[in-house]
Amino acid sequence: MATEKQWRQAAVMVVVVVLAVAGGAASKSKPKTCDKGWECKNSVYCCNDTISDFFQVYQFENLFSKRNAPIAHAVGFWDYHSFITASALFQPLGFGTTGGKQMAMKEVAAFLGHVGSKTSCGYGVATGGPLAWGLCYNHEMSPSQSYCNLDYLYPCTPGVDYYGRGALPVYWNYNYGIIGDGIKVDLLYHPEYLEQNATLAFQAAFWRWMTPMKKKQPSAHDVFVGNWKPSKNDTLAKRLPGFGTTMNVLYGDQVCGQGSIDAMNSIISHYQYYLDLMGVGRQYSGDNLDCAEQEAFNPSYQPASA
Ligand SMILES: *[C@@H]1O[C@H](CO)[C@@H](O)[C@H](O)[C@H]1NC(C)=O
Ligand SMILES: *[C@@H]1O[C@H](CO)[C@@H](O)[C@H](O)[C@H]1NC(C)=O
Ligand SMILES: *[C@@H]1O[C@H](CO)[C@@H](O)[C@H](O)[C@H]1NC(C)=O
Repeated sequence: MATEKQWRQAAVMVVVVVLAVAGGAASKSKPKTCDKGWECKNSVYCCNDTISDFFQVYQFENLFSKRNAPIAHAVGFWDYHSFITASALFQPLGFGTTGGKQMAMKEVAAFLGHVGSKTSCGYGVATGGPLAWGLCYNHEMSPSQSYCNLDYLYPCTPGVDYYGRGALPVYWNYNYGIIGDGIKVDLLYHPEYLEQNATLAFQAAFWRWMTPMKKKQPSAHDVFVGNWKPSKNDTLAKRLPGFGTTMNVLYGDQVCGQGSIDAMNSIISHYQYYLDLMGVGRQYSGDNLDCAEQEAFNPSYQPASA
């Protein structure tokens, strides 16, 4: 019988072999060696620009120009540094590093378009226009309930409420549980972290953007950057690559398949406003911008954010 120590050694060797194989594959697909920094480790994106090469503090300030106005609801909370710090975990996975500079800038605008519209307090005649008020909130102001549902995997912590918090607001215990697992922070015990720490709030949002909600489904990232090929069913359901389908991945039929509704148009407007401000221009919004006619990937209930 093998001793525990032998088992451990065997396990270590398996890990080493797997890493060696993965390393070999990576270097085969990308013979060019690059030594540009953190992003080069085990990532096919390593020689490409990092987000801070094309998206700088002044651009972040432009996009979210009203977030620290006296009447905003999260004054002093959101900043460029936490956005970049959080993105560093996801750039090696392809966020903002896929497909060349224009696609990378568009992905940042698309992601932030979702974030801006979900955290906006710019209604109607707000100064600067309704689109200047992204990142005005970091949590739901008057929750009408505690968003606790019976869940064996992610049971509610007694006395804790799971109302909307963060950059792509997270609601419900099971969503805090899944996302907490994803970013390795115990959000089921500490959902308040998402309104206390902007880096974690952005990390949770990036995780959501980069992660398929179900097996065999694409992530928002995948449908946006062109990693995803629609199946016949997808085509029949009018789900095609582009910004529109990111809304389907993130919100399903709360936003999609309802015709030209405000909830959808607001997200699109933020995306295009940011494209303009970043100097890309809304004429490059891409095909399949909306999801007015799409069927949801996952019909009704339980999207991770709303
Ligand atoms: C890296 O950038 C190049 C040129 O900008 C682009 O063609 C390529 O697709 C990018 N790599 C990946 C893996 O997206
Ligand atoms: C916020 O979270 C990040 C990531 O876990 C951590 O490094 C940082 O120290 C936290 N900031 C504060 C103020 O707690
Ligand atoms: C395609 O859609 C039909 C009807 O909605 C469904 O029954 C079937 O399982 C789907 N097939 C795949 C491969 O998803």
